[in-house]
Amino acid sequence: MGRYVVTGAASGMGAAAATRLRASGHTVIGVDITACDAVDVVTDLSTEQGRDHAARQVVLSTDHLDGVVLAAGLGPAAGRDRLRQIAEVNVSGTVDLLRHWRPLLATSGDAKVVVLGSNSATTVPGVPARTVAALLAGDTAAAVRSLRMFGPVAPTLMYAASKIAVTRWSRRTAVLPAWAGVGIRLNVLAPGAVQTPLLEEQLAHPRQGKAVRRFPIPVGKFGDADDVARWVCFMLSDAAESLCGSVIVVDGGTDAHFRADDWPRAVSLRRLPRYLRQFRG
Ligand code: NAI
Repeated sequence: MGRYVVTGAASGMGAAAATRLRASGHTVIGVDITACDAVDVVTDLSTEQGRDHAARQVVLSTDHLDGVVLAAGLGPAAGRDRLRQIAEVNVSGTVDLLRHWRPLLATSGDAKVVVLGSNSATTVPGVPARTVAALLAGDTAAAVRSLRMFGPVAPTLMYAASKIAVTRWSRRTAVLPAWAGVGIRLNVLAPGAVQTPLLEEQLAHPRQGKAVRRFPIPVGKFGDADDVARWVCFMLSDAAESLCGSVIVVDGGTDAHFRADDWPRAVSLRRLPRYLRQFRG
């Protein structure tokens, strides 16, 4: 039986994934800011100290990991300090922890990592490139500053930027020898709107709620946390041996609705020099 860490284990998709893993006989170390039976490490991932605490507690409790599910996250609700918190939890709460735990994952030889992205990364318009760049550089303060002029839509833009950044970081990292080369399979699961407390917080907000209800979902309904957890478990299984740096979109068709012609797309000739350098390795 395997040994897994699930962040965000107290609620929504993280809780559903932890329940499924435990029901299959695996050991799960649950990490969350909310204390409950499903959580072993109570910590605030929006602070560096909180992330260090989670990282160290896991290192102290096991000599290897078969997988990690990064499901702790904050949605685009408004609130004091919310922009910083979205950036810290959604991006640093994934990147910092995975950097710490990489050696534990490498020890298992065939570990799997599932990062919760979002279809917000590809369906929210006008996300500033400088916000994403700041997040990828680990500069939360610069990311927050970059959205100062955006008023009430700033949380939505920060949320989408956080999901672009964490997805891009995952794809860049997944293919490196220190990850793919030692058997770690790092992939992103990108849900659309899923019925969880995070979505309910958005639905309760007058402007955001209206936007979420109007957002096109071709299959006609919000996703279900346990259905997403089944995808998580599949991406943790042996079936994911060849899945590396992939983004699995499970969103009822919203991304296809808006972006059907944007991917797949041939490498442009403008990018050929870089492509040839990458080709040669
Ligand atoms: P949720 O709100 O049900 O669960 C998120 C968990 O993260 C909660 O248990 C919460 O306590 C924990 N968390 C929040 N801030 C934390 C902090 N500072 N430190 C430690 N833990 C913290 O949310 P849900 O919907 O299950 O979301 C899981 C992931 O999926 C998130 O990354 C979210 O962005 C993503 N997602 C959610 C969608 C949705 O419609 N529900 C759609 C697409 C992606």
